[in-house]
Amino acid sequence: MDAPREIFLKDYKMPDYYFDSVDLSFLLGEEKTIVSSKIIVSPRIEGNSHPLVLDGRDVKLLSVKVDDKDLKEEDFHLDSHHLTLTRPPSGTFTLEIVTEICPQNNTSLEGLYKSSGNFCTQCEAEGFRKITFFQDRPDVMAIYTCRIEADKTLYPVLLSNGNLIEQGDLEGGKHYALWKDPFKKPSYLFALVAGQLESRDDTFITSSGREVSLRIWTPAQDLPKTAHAMYSLKAAMKWDEEVFGLEYDLDLFNIVAVPDFNMGAMENKSLNIFNSKLVLASPETATDGDYAAILGVIGHEYFHNWTGNRVTCRDWFQLSLKEGLTVFRDQEFSSDMGSRTVKRIADVSRLRNFQFPQDAGPMAHPIRPHSYIKMDNFYTVTVYEKGAEVVRMYKTLLESSGFRKGMDLYFKRHDGQAVTCEDFFAAMRDANDADLSNFLLWYSQAGTPNVKVVSSYNSEAMTFSLKFSQGVPATPGQHVKEPMFIPVAVGLLTSSGEDIPITSVYHDGTLETVMENGQPVFTTILKVNKKEDEFVFANIAERPIPSLLRGFSAPIRLDSDLTDEDLFSLLAHDSDGFNRWEAGQILSRKLMLSLVADFQQSNPLVLNPKFVEGLRTIIRDPSLDKEFIAKAVTLPGEGEIMDLMEVADPDAVHAVRSFIRKELALQLKEEFLSTVINNRSSEPYTFDHENLARRALKNVALAYLASLGDEELTNLALDEYKSATNMTDQVAALAAIAQNPGLAREEVLLDFYQKWSDDFLVVNKWLSLQAMSDIPGNVANVQNLLKHPSFDLRNPNKVYALVGGFCASPVNFHAKDGSGYKFLGDIVLQLDKLNPQVASRMVSAFSRWRRFDDYRQALAKEQLEKILAANGLSENVYEIASKSLA
Ligand code: PHE
Ligand code: ZN
Repeated sequence: MDAPREIFLKDYKMPDYYFDSVDLSFLLGEEKTIVSSKIIVSPRIEGNSHPLVLDGRDVKLLSVKVDDKDLKEEDFHLDSHHLTLTRPPSGTFTLEIVTEICPQNNTSLEGLYKSSGNFCTQCEAEGFRKITFFQDRPDVMAIYTCRIEADKTLYPVLLSNGNLIEQGDLEGGKHYALWKDPFKKPSYLFALVAGQLESRDDTFITSSGREVSLRIWTPAQDLPKTAHAMYSLKAAMKWDEEVFGLEYDLDLFNIVAVPDFNMGAMENKSLNIFNSKLVLASPETATDGDYAAILGVIGHEYFHNWTGNRVTCRDWFQLSLKEGLTVFRDQEFSSDMGSRTVKRIADVSRLRNFQFPQDAGPMAHPIRPHSYIKMDNFYTVTVYEKGAEVVRMYKTLLESSGFRKGMDLYFKRHDGQAVTCEDFFAAMRDANDADLSNFLLWYSQAGTPNVKVVSSYNSEAMTFSLKFSQGVPATPGQHVKEPMFIPVAVGLLTSSGEDIPITSVYHDGTLETVMENGQPVFTTILKVNKKEDEFVFANIAERPIPSLLRGFSAPIRLDSDLTDEDLFSLLAHDSDGFNRWEAGQILSRKLMLSLVADFQQSNPLVLNPKFVEGLRTIIRDPSLDKEFIAKAVTLPGEGEIMDLMEVADPDAVHAVRSFIRKELALQLKEEFLSTVINNRSSEPYTFDHENLARRALKNVALAYLASLGDEELTNLALDEYKSATNMTDQVAALAAIAQNPGLAREEVLLDFYQKWSDDFLVVNKWLSLQAMSDIPGNVANVQNLLKHPSFDLRNPNKVYALVGGFCASPVNFHAKDGSGYKFLGDIVLQLDKLNPQVASRMVSAFSRWRRFDDYRQALAKEQLEKILAANGLSENVYEIASKSLA
């Protein structure tokens, strides 16, 4: 194939034409769907004579008219990607286009497609062009109407954005609905749904007293499972009013759940479309993790109404403008609804396990990428999660009130506009008159900054110094980096673990007072801004233990000179909950890396007793939050450890992590046993912090115990499985048992499947649990599961569960015989024919192949080359595979 074209941020040009209004009409049919559009087009500059280039893909052009007249053949040009009007009129004109599409054959799940018999759309980023010819770019914003006509029995519900203006019956068993969205929007926010759906209805009264109808649509049998989603929506609406003063702006808000969806959910104006797994929940079928994810994603999509829809992106390079900000908002929402510390721990773990590796690999890109081949490939943990960290740093630097002022100014300036990351930055800066110096580098430099800190105490001067040095590693296309502006939140502890009051800090030769309202503080933000930067705390009466980067105040890798003793002390006492957890993680990482070295040199593995005692104290501490304890006794993931190695060794890391787990299970057996026993409950399931924390702790303890694989403990897990009254406990017990090969595992897996074979979301848990298993030779099981009746390559959730799950097990995916790589290589090529976006997500598992030994490298490379050599490869997969090999 010809190498697909790369698109660059620096080439951005304003559109030559704007669309004032767009009237769409859909005739939905079983064989074909006819789409008519009537667009009022205005040149950006009066009298311009540029051609009007419309995007279009897989659409058949039936007719095109300008000002009511069929366009002459010499006045337009059609190719596989565009319809170009070569000589449009010089002033405002009416453009009418009729196209034909086949949603029923659309397996890419982009544009208009069918899911379980219903019609639905997915237009972000560039799916609208699969519906009709259009300037499919976010800086073209218009008022839309949408008329839908379809068979009334097959498609009783017809939905689009905005308000329902008109509806009625038509001849031949058909009916229609006409929708109008009063807000200007880009094409990526357009949506249409038609099908057999029913709704859970509720209302929300906004702070200014307007009543909003809320409807969550699903097939009738799933309606009982939408209660938590409705609760989440109302909580999100209230939270956005309270925290950001943002009210919903229409009288109707719809959510539709569909089983076939590439991503999590989509924020289409007033018609959010969701992957069913992020809407449907009942205590019997969904875990605490599912409940939490639903809360977060319902919030996320709702929050987009302001951050994304009312103010949108000028171009797709600015994606983090809406996504980083909206992820930050959903993180804060979830924090306020649960435990802030535990939420922060979960978000940072995610960043470390997924974003740090991406930032250190061939796909590394800044939160605002400089170029792309397929935009779909840039819906990444970097744009989303690192983007959220960048937004969080504004809040850390400007404090809550300053951040809110910046948000207010952002909306005041840009409501109704398509803007850039600089516009957001400028609003934050201007609202606070802040010196944010080179903060914008966070948008342009890829790579996780490495920061080293050296401390020293001067007892005569009573000063404590922290010397920072920083560097950003080279990333593809960026070899030389500049020093970043890094907010480092620091507290100081006495040797017995109390916070030391901080009054003043020397920096750059001046003494700065850091009091607040005349009072000393316990945490201060150091603004590290140079390659080498020193901060000296004054009036410190004893050598302190520094608590560094509290709350993970910047997305960096921090290397400090804290001793193990300091770390144990922080683990036991730090008043910053996040750093208490972090101290344990630093100790675990050190321990795991040193045991990996022992394993590689065939030395016996011995667990440091102090580590065991540190965890024992945590488990036994009744003052601690149970969910926090669950996190604190969980070891860093295998991926996180491999990421820290010169040459990643999945077998060694796996062996070491399993060794530590078993050793902890043995030595802390009493604690774990009583934890399981004391945290059972016969109350009905409730999703509240106290109960989910209790379950989290019990289930972590159970997993440790069952890892030992002896009969007594396997039976304990079996009892938990049988007595479970909710999915959280049931699947946790199943997973605990399934750690070890054997009869118990087989029986309980079969039992679970038989119980739940009718519920595809639960069956996906069953698929992923088996796929992620680290039992030796698991690739064969996964291969068999591909043929299982519950599996379907066309459904993304199933692919993510089975194929994605498999790639998440380092030992099996990276198996030395190459079987894991071959499995993935083959499946990517099959998937690519059906759904390039999903195929490209899967092929990403290869991207860090250079981190492994030569032998594995050769095997992975062979698969990547095989993929690239395939005929008709999608641009999506091409981009990831070719960049991985580059
Ligand atoms: N914009 C969606 C979000 O809320 C994600 C998405 C992107 C969904 C592309 C579908 C397609 O993050
Ligand atoms: Zn989003």
